[in-house]
Amino acid sequence: MEQHLLQKSPIVRTASSLPVEDRYRVLIESITEYAVYLLDENGIVISWNPGAQKSMGYTADEIIGQHFSVFYRPTNRAAGSPEIALKTAVTEGRFEAEGWRVRKDGTEFWTHVVIDPVRSTDGAVVGFAKITRDLTERRSAEQALRSSEEQFRILVQSVTDYAIYMLDPKGFVSSWNLGAERIKGYKTDEILGEHFSRFYPEADRKAGAPEESLAIAAKEGRFEREAWRVRKDGTTFLAHVIIDAIRNDDGELIGFAKITRDVTERSKAQQALERTREQLFQAQKLEAIGQLTGGVAHDFNNLLMVIQSSLSMIRKRVSDDSKLVSLLDNASQAAARGATLTQRMLAFARRQDLDQQMVSIPDLVRGMTEMLERAIGPATAIITQFPLSLPDVVTDPNQLESVLLNLAVNARDAMPSGGSFVISARAEELDVFNDHKLNAGRYVRFSVKDEGLGMDAATLSRATEPFFTTKGVGKGTGLGLAMAQGFAEQSGGRLMIDSQPGAGTTVEIWIPAAMSSRLADDTPAPQTIVPGTNRQPLTILAVDDDALVLMNTVAMLEDLGHSVSQASSGLRALEVLRREPKLDLLITDHAMPGMTGVELIDLVRAERPHLPVILATGYAELPSGTQTNATRLAKPFFDDDLEKAMDLALRR
Ligand SMILES: Nc1ncnc2c1ncn2[C@@H]1O[C@H](COP(=O)(O)OP(=O)(O)OP(=O)(O)O)[C@@H](O)[C@H]1O
Ligand SMILES: [Mg+2]
Repeated sequence: MEQHLLQKSPIVRTASSLPVEDRYRVLIESITEYAVYLLDENGIVISWNPGAQKSMGYTADEIIGQHFSVFYRPTNRAAGSPEIALKTAVTEGRFEAEGWRVRKDGTEFWTHVVIDPVRSTDGAVVGFAKITRDLTERRSAEQALRSSEEQFRILVQSVTDYAIYMLDPKGFVSSWNLGAERIKGYKTDEILGEHFSRFYPEADRKAGAPEESLAIAAKEGRFEREAWRVRKDGTTFLAHVIIDAIRNDDGELIGFAKITRDVTERSKAQQALERTREQLFQAQKLEAIGQLTGGVAHDFNNLLMVIQSSLSMIRKRVSDDSKLVSLLDNASQAAARGATLTQRMLAFARRQDLDQQMVSIPDLVRGMTEMLERAIGPATAIITQFPLSLPDVVTDPNQLESVLLNLAVNARDAMPSGGSFVISARAEELDVFNDHKLNAGRYVRFSVKDEGLGMDAATLSRATEPFFTTKGVGKGTGLGLAMAQGFAEQSGGRLMIDSQPGAGTTVEIWIPAAMSSRLADDTPAPQTIVPGTNRQPLTILAVDDDALVLMNTVAMLEDLGHSVSQASSGLRALEVLRREPKLDLLITDHAMPGMTGVELIDLVRAERPHLPVILATGYAELPSGTQTNATRLAKPFFDDDLEKAMDLALRR
């Protein structure tokens, strides 16, 4: 047996210099990746190579002479596997299998085995050639691959937020995941083999969009887009789509990977955000315009007051010159128009002193009948609709009248060839979940509904902006709806407009309903004061930091026959007061630098507790709830207002 042992690697210069027999020996001895050895006809190991030693762990000395069944697992040995292998080799001419084998150290490995019978020249089996290869590594690599493929499959399958699927090179669906099912609505077996163009809206399909996207993906490697796609039920969604071309190692296109995400929600959220931003911008813009308008209107108010009362005083003195009188009347009318304008601006800026009263809307409308008819002319009819009973509202009736007048004129203007519009009101109860952006509570919903031209979306969105008008220069100020909105909001309500081109316009003003209705007997009958009757000339101190206004007040008072001292500040006023013991009345402005009117009154009261006092205030100057114990006079005021206030102050 010694001659079969191949124990040492021979050192040879060239293989071809060896005798033929040695060449085989050298060959086998050089093989380390395969175990190559011989068994005799009974299965006893009779030769051993380095590959065998490497994979099994036995040296030639240790293993030669042993039966090859020592390489088998005990269970396989007990089952007769070694004998079966040899027998198969004899009967079939060859045995080939993969299986577990045991190394010398007891560890197991997976192996590929080939056994060939070795026959003598007369054909008898004299032994077996055995070649085995350790496949453990290949097997574990394969297993790892299989399990990672499995993991990928599970991963892709269970993603529900993304549709992940594959297309063959022609665009037919070849795999489908849960996300695809959820987003597109098709089950796997419904969609496999179908062409992916069915996910496109018809117009896109006709325009060749599906083919184009595959062509781009094939050419550039990837296609990415946001576009509308169709679900199985026909509904559409905004999809973010990526198509990647898949190529094999040779660069040949074998299909496409498609990932689709439904971004409808995201885009909705984005739109909502943009809308909110736009609203915020509008609100800020209006706030700024409000500040500006309010400021300008405040100063104009004072100036117009001076102009108007000066004109009326001049008018008294020139009563016989008819030419002058008509000029003066012109000037007074222009000043009055200016005053109305500034009132509207103040109302828009929500900076107006509201003279809050219990108001019955039906009564208010009825009281305006004549004025409305005159304002809108004969071609337009007014229809009123009020329920039998309607709660009162707490509001400023004069403001509400001017709002209604504007709405009526707007309605008339929207119906150039005549028609009719409806003024109505009804009570509404709102809970906290109402979508009118109003607090919960009871409201009176006051509306003017016309059948006129209506507004397009652009006009509607700007209708309540101050100075926005479509009526042409000199015809409309564009302040009507702006003031109506300011007024409604200052009253704790809201203005709402519903309008469609050609379908008319409804403007609604929601005003909080009063807690209880007026009871006719509760209201004390207003004392009828006939201003200025039997009044003795008085000594009066007038205080205002605005020289023009002060001069005007003084002129009015002197015109009424009183003697007047004047002061341009609170401190000056105190000086005059201390100098002049015989004062009958103090009239002071409120908003003055240094010392306000209210502060002045407090100091005066300390010295002269019984002196009658009138406090003149512009729009919303006094913080609400201010107690003054003085008669209030709203600016701008004219001689009538002044006289009424004086009567009240002297009676206190
Ligand atoms: N009932 C309506 N039908 C159609 N459009 C209207 C209606 N009411 C208002 N509008 C549109 O809204 C714009 C603004 O109205 P708003 O009352 O604020 O100002 P105005 O009527 O133009 O001017 P002013 O009120 O000073 O006369 C109008 O110019 C008009 O385009
Ligand atoms: Mg108007």
